[in-house]
Amino acid sequence: MKQIEPTDPSGLSQEQAQAEFLQLQAQLSAADQAYHQEDAPFLDDAEYDAIKRRYQALAEAFPALKEAATQLDSVGAPVSSGFGKIQHVVPMLSLGNAFEDGDVADFDRSIRSYLGLSASQPLSFTAEPKIDGLSLSLRYENGVLIQAATRGDGATGENVTANARTIADIPQQLEGAPDVLEIRGEVYMSHEDFAALNARHAERGGKLFANPRNAAAGSLRQLDAEITRVRPLRFFAYSWGDLSTPLAETQAGAIGRLHQLGFQTNPLTKTCNSVAEMIAHYRLIEAQRATLGYDIDGVVYKVDELDLQARLGFRSTTPRWAIAHKFPAELAWTWLEAIDIQVGRTGALSPVARLTPVTVGGVVVSNATLHNEDYIRGRDSKGAVIRGGKDIRIGDWVQIYRAGDVIPKVADVDLTKRPAEAVEFTFPDTCPECGSDAVREEGDAVRRCTGGIICPAQAIEKLKHFVSRKAFDIEGLGAKQLEMFYGDSDLPIRTPVDIYTLADRDAGQFTKLKNRPGWGDQSAANLFAAINEKRNIPLGRVIFALGIRHVGEVAAKDLALHFGSWEELAKALDLARPAALAHRTADLAEEREREQASSEGRRAKIKETRDGALSRLELHLATREAWEDLIGIDGIGATVGLSLSDALANAQERAVINDLVAQLNIAAPAAQSQESPVAGLTVVFTGKLEKMTRDEAKARAESLGAKVSGSVSKKTDILVAGPGAGSKEKKAQELGIRILDEDGWLAEIAST
Ligand code: IVH
Repeated sequence: MKQIEPTDPSGLSQEQAQAEFLQLQAQLSAADQAYHQEDAPFLDDAEYDAIKRRYQALAEAFPALKEAATQLDSVGAPVSSGFGKIQHVVPMLSLGNAFEDGDVADFDRSIRSYLGLSASQPLSFTAEPKIDGLSLSLRYENGVLIQAATRGDGATGENVTANARTIADIPQQLEGAPDVLEIRGEVYMSHEDFAALNARHAERGGKLFANPRNAAAGSLRQLDAEITRVRPLRFFAYSWGDLSTPLAETQAGAIGRLHQLGFQTNPLTKTCNSVAEMIAHYRLIEAQRATLGYDIDGVVYKVDELDLQARLGFRSTTPRWAIAHKFPAELAWTWLEAIDIQVGRTGALSPVARLTPVTVGGVVVSNATLHNEDYIRGRDSKGAVIRGGKDIRIGDWVQIYRAGDVIPKVADVDLTKRPAEAVEFTFPDTCPECGSDAVREEGDAVRRCTGGIICPAQAIEKLKHFVSRKAFDIEGLGAKQLEMFYGDSDLPIRTPVDIYTLADRDAGQFTKLKNRPGWGDQSAANLFAAINEKRNIPLGRVIFALGIRHVGEVAAKDLALHFGSWEELAKALDLARPAALAHRTADLAEEREREQASSEGRRAKIKETRDGALSRLELHLATREAWEDLIGIDGIGATVGLSLSDALANAQERAVINDLVAQLNIAAPAAQSQESPVAGLTVVFTGKLEKMTRDEAKARAESLGAKVSGSVSKKTDILVAGPGAGSKEKKAQELGIRILDEDGWLAEIAST
């Protein structure tokens, strides 16, 4: 960041103000010239905005300067904070990955099993290159391009319509298209264009892009679309979102139709009738990879029949009907110069390798993960060999592995090259950040800092997670600002709730904030507005934002859907606490028994021990039910349940959460389908289903907003019982629960 004078302009003399003003004016005019006419910006958007804000502040404080100003288009108007947001009508999802041929066979098998197809029944797929660029959604209405949006977080993207209009591969008008047509595809840059762009920038001393994907992303996301126009971007169409009439009956047919409409589609797209054909096409594409002229990072397989795609539907973030078969990871060798320990948001101590920089698959890598202390030692906690048993020392010659966007890792070490002075690494048993004990729990490969909230590293990481894109996503409050606020003695942010009390604590026109280096009236006002905007927030985001171990985005959404409000979730967890603890005790007892169990007889005893431990605790029935309800939520289970339970039982953490919740206006998750007659109901399937597989039935019910549970309880609303139903049906009868057969169930949901 260029240094911007932080002082309040009204404290400056006329002369001082004028000197600074003229200097900023010259900077802005040079930056404009470089940006608009030379396509070689030397300031990034944030730097430019900061200079502009200061320039505006000076002009406001000194009317004489305002009159002389040449760079003032809109004094007082907020500087553009970026692109507008666009809510995707159909979410933009990502793809599951396959790495080995066996994963492709598993993909075929799981689809057959889901659809109830035997191994010999026909099932075809398309196979096509996976373009390494950035995805874009183009909305056409009545044949006219009206909107273009980036993927963003999948639900909301950025409005880049003006930029997309400058790309030659993107038609502005379509002949004979459906009234509503959302085209999805990849924006990318060819190797040749990428090299030429970087050469131009190098000549002018401008910023170089690391790879064609970054260059494409940087070029599309330009606030000034005129810059995008001079960047050589291309576009392949491969999919669609919202649609008023179907494009075809098959994926291949739909892609053919997109081609006819004037889109570029990939010429290496092929229809395959077996796993063997898919893998053969993958090999063919892999062989051509180096000469294609653009980056690809794998092959995408899609079920060809669109009817079947519709039946297969989606998991939370990926379709069941498609998968990306990635190319093998890239490898390189380099020296391990040092090992640092980073402390994460859950207290995990993670060893990071500092390397002599090396290029791995076109990207310069100077840091890589070493996972944990066992990985460095080459032995697990029980002494068993891992990674060939070779320990890793500082000074070693090590192999780096990088696959796509995955964090690079140290994969191997060459002992023949070990220098005599290589040093064994001693893993710390105290936290390098706060000095608290760092302990490893039984069965855990990771050592964790026990400092909790007093550990600054954990606190800062938690805060960063809290404001991250999939959590509160507060604009203008990122890692850098949080680090500043964390150490601030006057206006600190140490826990999430501090973010929401910031404005109150800075009463009186934000004087505390706006007088800090790099802050002014506008930026302070923007920050408070951005924070306030996120007081209204969906429950799932709140749960995810808390950064509780094992509670990822998907689990958070599942919990939100199940409980509907923070109060209900907290109540259930409090009620379930004794059962959660009993579960852990029973687990430990079981684990200990298992370790000693060598004979069949002893193994039989394990179950007894476990059941005994649970029943001896004579838990209150409601407690047990609350626990079973929690861990019975699809995708939750005991690990997540225990972690949540521990987090809420921690008094400090609970206090922070309660205070935070009091500051927010938490929105209950919308039932996924309001039309659906089964939205919000709990359904249990038992016995044999004949018209669809169990997986399909479950997925369908969930997509209609029902909760599918594995066991019958008082909370069950409907039991769908097929032939051969047993104890569950009996229990449902006893509890007076509504029982339907498969046809009855299908009739029930037929209206949707
Ligand atoms: S299909 C519902 N086809 O890969 C899934 N995606 O890892 C629709 N991508 O976000 C995606 N080439 O940006 C599809 N031929 C291709 C692709 C492709 C690249 C990207 C896309 C997606 C990401 C998922």
